Amino acid sequence: DVPVLIDRFGRVARDLRVSITEKCSLRCTYCMPEEGLPAIPTQDLLTASEIARVVGVAVHRLGVEEVRFTGGEPLMRADLTEIVRLTSQVAPGVPLSMTTNAVGLEHRADTLAAAGLNRVNVSLDTIDRAHFAELTRRDRLPSVLAGVRAAMRAGLTPVKINAVLMPETLHGAADLLQWCLDEGVALRFIEQMPLDADQEWARANMLDAEHLLDVLSTRFDLREIGRSDPSAPAEEWAVGGTSSTVGIIASVTRSFCSDCDRTRLTAEGTVRSCLFSDEETDLRAALRGGATDDELGKLWQGAMWNKWAGHGIDAVGFVPPARSMGAIGG
Ligand code: GTP
Ligand code: 5AD
Ligand code: SF4
Repeated sequence: DVPVLIDRFGRVARDLRVSITEKCSLRCTYCMPEEGLPAIPTQDLLTASEIARVVGVAVHRLGVEEVRFTGGEPLMRADLTEIVRLTSQVAPGVPLSMTTNAVGLEHRADTLAAAGLNRVNVSLDTIDRAHFAELTRRDRLPSVLAGVRAAMRAGLTPVKINAVLMPETLHGAADLLQWCLDEGVALRFIEQMPLDADQEWARANMLDAEHLLDVLSTRFDLREIGRSDPSAPAEEWAVGGTSSTVGIIASVTRSFCSDCDRTRLTAEGTVRSCLFSDEETDLRAALRGGATDDELGKLWQGAMWNKWAGHGIDAVGFVPPARSMGAIGG
């Protein structure tokens, strides 16, 4: 029997998300401050071989079944290919994916696929260039679109686009969906969570899934399908006249915390049981201090046991976590 990452509420984590850097090529207002995040000293980042070792523990000792690299922006790590290659060697057959903004992916998609990456999710909120530049504070839309197409050609599929719902992107939502239908990529809209670095999120200003559906329905005929499995964040809608679907991740209004199957490793090598809990368990110190795989596994299990019931965004006295999305990884 492989021990698993189970918590007090009986949830078992099988989906590992590994943040590998705090750096990013964009500055999305809902994620990063204008000046970027404070740099993590190089010696504090897990190295490629340390990442592979830890993923090996997760997969072989703790029942983890899929691994996703996040950031910041994973493409900012010069040794990303090495990270992917070593990880896929340690965990052959385990699906490896990456959540990326796709800036520069055009030039690296083939290499990453060859190193063992299976698929990518691309963060893209609008296909209007001026609006993209405003939202991300960088004029890089052409690079992103080229990156999406390169990922498709390299077989990093299915490619899924993540779009964070915001009042200012609502008018472009139908155009974004049409673009995704034309390109053959899946699209999911995500309710914005209070994970912005500037802590400006306010429930009253948040655009919810219902509102988006109303807007999309004026141009598309949508039929509810539901979730592919209970822990999948996205609920799917079929788009009439096409074989495609559009997904909605209603993280706030219809939270999926009670079915959560995630565990997270930060770029500095700490285990984080939930996006919203600042309690972290340091695996790096143990790893560098000579801990065995068994000891690392036990530390990780302890970290997950105390996982919170959920994010509690709507609870009285809710306090957003100290780390913003860019510093945790989506
Ligand atoms: P796949 O469908 O398998 O690709 O996975 P996924 O939906 O988990 O993909 P992704 O990492 O792209 O996450 C999509 C979005 O869901 C993120 O951008 C976050 O906004 C949100 N999200 C991801 N993980 C969590 C989580 O643990 N909790 C909550 N509440 N939201 C999350
Ligand atoms: N709320 C919801 N999703 C967010 N993301 C970044 N910040 C937020 C937020 N505040 C998404 C990005 C990307 C993933 C890493 O997380 O769009 O898809
Ligand atoms: Fe899981 Fe925490 Fe995300 Fe809820 S907020 S789905 S408990 S990681």
